[in-house]
Amino acid sequence: MSSQLSTLLSEQRRFPPTPEFAEGAHATQALYDEAVRDRLAFWAEQARTLTWIHPWQSVLEWTAPHARWFSGGQLNVAANCVDRHLSGARRNKAAIIWEGEPGDRRVYTYWELGQEVGRCASALKGLGVQKGDRVAIYLPMIPEAAIAMLACARIGAVHSVVFGGFSAEALRDRINDAECTVLITADGGYRRGSVLPLKRFADEALTDCPSIRHVVVVRRRPGGEGDEAFATMREGRDHWWHRLLEQAAPTCPAEPMDAEDMLFILYTSGTTGKPKGIVHTTGGYLTHVAATTKYVFDLKDEDVFWCTADIGWVTGHSYVVYGPLANGATVMMYEGAPDWPERDRFWKICARYGVTVLYTAPTAIRAFMKWGPEHPARHDLSQLRLLGSVGEPINPEAWIWYREHIGGNRCPIVDTWWQTETGGIMITPLPGVVTTKPGSATIPFPGISAKLVDVHGTVLEKGGGFLVLTEPWPGMLRTIYGDDARYRETYWSRFPGRYFAGDGAKVDDDGYWWILGRVDDVLNVAGHRIGTMEVESALVDHPAVAEAAVVGKAHDLKGQAIAAFVTLKDGHAATAEMRDDLKEHVAKKIGAIARPDDIFFSADLPKTRSGKIMRRLLRDIAEGRALGDTTTLADPGVVARLREMYEAEES
Ligand code: WTA
Repeated sequence: MSSQLSTLLSEQRRFPPTPEFAEGAHATQALYDEAVRDRLAFWAEQARTLTWIHPWQSVLEWTAPHARWFSGGQLNVAANCVDRHLSGARRNKAAIIWEGEPGDRRVYTYWELGQEVGRCASALKGLGVQKGDRVAIYLPMIPEAAIAMLACARIGAVHSVVFGGFSAEALRDRINDAECTVLITADGGYRRGSVLPLKRFADEALTDCPSIRHVVVVRRRPGGEGDEAFATMREGRDHWWHRLLEQAAPTCPAEPMDAEDMLFILYTSGTTGKPKGIVHTTGGYLTHVAATTKYVFDLKDEDVFWCTADIGWVTGHSYVVYGPLANGATVMMYEGAPDWPERDRFWKICARYGVTVLYTAPTAIRAFMKWGPEHPARHDLSQLRLLGSVGEPINPEAWIWYREHIGGNRCPIVDTWWQTETGGIMITPLPGVVTTKPGSATIPFPGISAKLVDVHGTVLEKGGGFLVLTEPWPGMLRTIYGDDARYRETYWSRFPGRYFAGDGAKVDDDGYWWILGRVDDVLNVAGHRIGTMEVESALVDHPAVAEAAVVGKAHDLKGQAIAAFVTLKDGHAATAEMRDDLKEHVAKKIGAIARPDDIFFSADLPKTRSGKIMRRLLRDIAEGRALGDTTTLADPGVVARLREMYEAEES
């Protein structure tokens, strides 16, 4: 048994819902009962909370592994997230409260949001964007990111948001894979006081993106127009956002979309070198994120909901934009780093805007812990009433710290397990109903069927195993863009007929889930998914590298850090400069988030006799552990040499 597992097993603390919270909560035990009685009726009831242009004929058509939810139904996502709030009391309510890293602030009421989305939609149409066309979005965390997504949804264009921290090359690959015709970017974005020159990266990407016809550039920097250091505009191709929108009509008809029409593509790392374009559609996705937002975060009209994820990840899609806005909520959005200019920035924001629900990642919580409780203690966090966690397993100590120092021992914590592929939250406590245990995501959301299986696919009642989903759910991915064979192979072949999530988990005597993390070659670095193969491809792309193997090593703050074992080609020396050069090379190919922490040079890599690199062994070496069984190695001497090298480096 791993030490991680035994620590979790000994976790005895329990936090039942308080009667006060339970009394006012949206969620009830009846919700679970209803879903158990009739799963499809439960989801249909959730779908009916949305505004449909045309009713659906069937709730679910399932020909494994392809699902069609609410088939025959028509709706528009932007109309659901904006228009329907304009006729009543929410018309003048803050939809988005935003703060930039330098301290600039903006508030959009639902009415204003509607105007901006309308203008952006009209402008995109003016550039020739049609229903089904793909639009790439490469922006910092500014309101324009949400506006651009909603504008695409309004006219039926498919957005593909690329995280602003990705490199030019990563952007190029994603644009080309989806053949995007328009790119929306900005002259820059603020991070730790400096400006990330997104337009410059975009220009670098666009040297080889034949499908792009137009580029729309948000002027983020004051006086940014005309500042050629950040944005050189190419005549005919590039347009300033503010100029286009100034001339565009604020009204633009919402395109009636079939429930199964594509809403967005979002690229995520898998076990091969090439990221997968995860495809999400309209009716089921919105149903799933709207329902989970309402019940998991217990959202009320008075709440200020702050999900700290970047729009470039699925959490930003589902719980900054679509879920909360479908519920008519007030969303808090912040552009920059949590420690800029000081380590209390988050708490300053919570106090200033009266944030009531905070949803963040364990990696951030561990950083806050390390920085010390004096930072939150300086601010009034008494408006907070619910806390959430997502992205990686949360260790019980971080959970308890979060509860005590941020939640004042009064806020329930929802630890939510889900993935880019699932679209919305899958395993989570419902606040007010479910007793929580620190470190456990507790039980599946109503209407979700999760099972634990062993390597043969046999269902286990409890113990350790793999997490599979046994029934289709509304927010599920529909395919991988342009590669349905890979969709079947990746998710549905390991345990035929069931969706394999790639995560290991444990189910305890109470039926509670403890997610242990990825069991495939996907790393989770500070809550970001990175494929080991992706990093390996980037490394072998360097002219000096003959071979590379990448593993994750345990890291106090980031959860996992990247360690790379590299064999150089003859004639290249293993120097400190080479190490820096390789780290830089990976950052340039993928983005700073993929920069390896450690690079070990080695004349050989440990391989099995059939030539497979033994990653488990490398992990043991990288983490400085005693080595396990090496009898299957083709050349056992390799390990001894590697270990010597590792130990020499450590000292
Ligand atoms: C991990 C993020 C433990 C998991 C929404 C999953 C978690 C991967 C949790 C998906 C959690 C996410 N507890 N692990 N509460 N939430 N994960 O696609 O390994 O960026 O497979 O989606 O993050 O990452 P993704």
